[in-house]
Formats: sequence, C-alpha cells, structure tokens
Amino acid sequence: HIRLLSIFFYFCYDRHMDNILMAKKKAAIAASKLVKDGMTVGLGTGSTIAFFLDALAERVQHEKLNIIGVTTSFKTADRAKELGIQIQDIDSAPMIDLTIDGADEVDTELNGIKGGGAAFLMEKIVAKNSKRVVWIVDSLKVHDKLGQFPLPVEVVPFGSGKLITEFEQHHLYPKLRTGADGQPVVTDMGHYIVDLDLQVIDQPYELSRYLDGRIGVVEHGLFLDIADEVIVGSQQGVSYLR
Ligand code: 5RP
Repeated sequence: HIRLLSIFFYFCYDRHMDNILMAKKKAAIAASKLVKDGMTVGLGTGSTIAFFLDALAERVQHEKLNIIGVTTSFKTADRAKELGIQIQDIDSAPMIDLTIDGADEVDTELNGIKGGGAAFLMEKIVAKNSKRVVWIVDSLKVHDKLGQFPLPVEVVPFGSGKLITEFEQHHLYPKLRTGADGQPVVTDMGHYIVDLDLQVIDQPYELSRYLDGRIGVVEHGLFLDIADEVIVGSQQGVSYLR
C-alpha cells in the first residue's frame, strides 16, 4: 500500500510540475510576441526565461528580426549565443526598449521578489535601464503580499557574517545561500547571497530602504515600482497585471 501511495503522490507531483512548466511556457510565448524588429531587448534569467529565449529565437530566425539582446547573467548570455540571438554589453548597447524577465513572487501592485536564480543584481541594473519591463510568471507566484518567497540579499563576502548577525538581531531570519557542495553560492558578480525568510512583508518600502542603507549589501531582491506589466500564465492561458 505504501508503495502504491508513493507512486500516486509521485504521479500527482509530476502532473503539478508539468502544469507549472506549461503555465511558464504560455507566459513566455505571449511575451515573445511583444518584441519588435529593431528593438534592444533585456533578457532575464531563469526557467521561464529559458522558454522565452526559445520562442524569441524562433521569431528571430523565421521573421529575420534584427534585435540586440542585453543579458542579465552568464547563463542567459551563453544560451542566447547558442540560439543565435545577437547580444551586446549593457554599456555599449543602445537604450533598452523592453526587458522580459521572470520573478519569484509578485503582488497585484506589480511589485515583486526576484533572485531565486541569484541573478537579481544584473537583472535590476538591466530593468532600471529599460523603457519597459515585463515579467512572466506562473499563476502560483501571484500573492496579495510578498514574503512567502525568501527575500535574497546580495552581499560582499567580506564581513558577511557580521551582516548576518545584524539581520538576525533585526528578526529578518537570514540564511547564507549554499550550493550542493555546502559552499556559499557565488553570484556572477562575485558576491554571496543571504536569503531572508520573512513569510510576509508588510512594509516593503521600509524594508527596501533599510537594506539599501546597510554597508556590505550590494543589492536586494525587492523590485518595487519596476515592472510595467506582468504576464501570468496558467493552464487556461494568460492574463495580465497592469
Ligand atoms: C533570477 C530570477 C528569476 O527570474 C526568478 O528566480 C524566476 O525563476 P524561474 O523562471 O526559474 O521560476 O529572479 O534571479
């Protein structure tokens, strides 16, 4: 019986994951249609963006779209190159017309938490230099209040232990992000990540100001007033938060 039950649970979990991937893909395909010929496009990071890159590359190839991609991680840069999407460094590229990125959690005010994939520093820089920012998410990521997803904070390795103690004293429940080898995760920009397990963030602007003011904090994953639109994928199709 136990074996049958575990097979059943495994089957349900598998179906659930398939549905999430399908929802991500639907949002990604909808976003790929926003790209127009001649645009400079910010390319986010993550599994939802992987679907977007595939859909975008197909349009680039079939419609001979002439676009420039500005990437937000080494991983996205490698994948874009593999797919034949032309990329340029942010400082030499023209103004970014549109950035498409994923998010870990969003609220109905279009604020979000990003950084599950450890790329939020570059993602925030690209977003802040974009005329328009669109996020693509599956519907399970939309919540009334942010905080269910642990808030990532990118910190300088030197003194990070002191910063963690300070966060503990502020009841921010910090945890240094480590990899499978037990070693700290190092971001593309050479920093550590501390995840704050807050459960609910009642005052995101106040928290953002507090984190911005800490010496040793490079950036945090609260993205407030940055997204212009969120495309939410579900089994049924897509809906829009604007
Ligand atoms: C990376 C991010 C990603 O956009 C976020 O983690 C969403 O990832 P996924 O699309 O895999 O769910 O912020 O820093």
